Amino acid sequence: MRAWIEQLFEFPGLEGMGHGQRVEDANLGLGWLYYALGRIVRPRTAVVIGSFRGFVPLVLARALADNAEGGLVHFIDPSMVDDFWNDPAMVREHFASFGVTNVRHYLMTTQEFAESPAMAGVDEIGLLFVDGFHTEEQAAFDHALFAPRMTDDGIALFHDSIRDHESDIYGKDRTYRHTVMRYMDRLKRDPAYQVMDFPMASGVTLVRRASSREGGR
Ligand SMILES: C[S@@+](CC[C@H](N)C(=O)[O-])C[C@H]1O[C@@H](n2cnc3c(N)ncnc32)[C@H](O)[C@@H]1O
Repeated sequence: MRAWIEQLFEFPGLEGMGHGQRVEDANLGLGWLYYALGRIVRPRTAVVIGSFRGFVPLVLARALADNAEGGLVHFIDPSMVDDFWNDPAMVREHFASFGVTNVRHYLMTTQEFAESPAMAGVDEIGLLFVDGFHTEEQAAFDHALFAPRMTDDGIALFHDSIRDHESDIYGKDRTYRHTVMRYMDRLKRDPAYQVMDFPMASGVTLVRRASSREGGR
């Protein structure tokens, strides 16, 4: 695993983007949490929405591949930052260069995905990672789209979920505010959900549906 992480960090962009990684000691940072959940939940299906260079889809795909039963990561990203995800052959090659062959990429927004035939093929989701357009409205849309297709023990993770701030990732003339934390605040007030923040780096919040025994619905 250490050699794999060291190889990961050689690729520009996989050592950053707010997951608290540290190159010096091959430390995945919050990536350990993603990897651990992949091994604990053992989902047959994971969905990842948005990634700059593939850190989360790579780590989750590796976790699922390390499970005896395997599993598939559906990765949705319309490549809005640059053209990195535009060419399907290059996308396949990117993942394969890290020994990862269980990622299926969709070059579309989640809104487009919802209307596509691919939507029907995504079910029994054990892990959902929401890291696309970081507004309250989009986080709520992404969650509402996939929550009905999650397993009872499924967990949703929301990245960039702990602070309200301005981002210029889509260009200086297209700045926008990250407001995912406002959606997290809504979920925290809803007894149907258990919600836990990990406020390290850019932060990630874990959300799971509470069972009736736990006081939820
Ligand atoms: C830049 S990433 C955020 C960085 C991320 N924390 C990481 O680890 O790489 C956000 C990604 O979300 C994608 N995105 C933006 N709007 C989206 C949408 N509506 N549906 C799906 N993906 C979206 C963008 O193409 C971009 O690649």
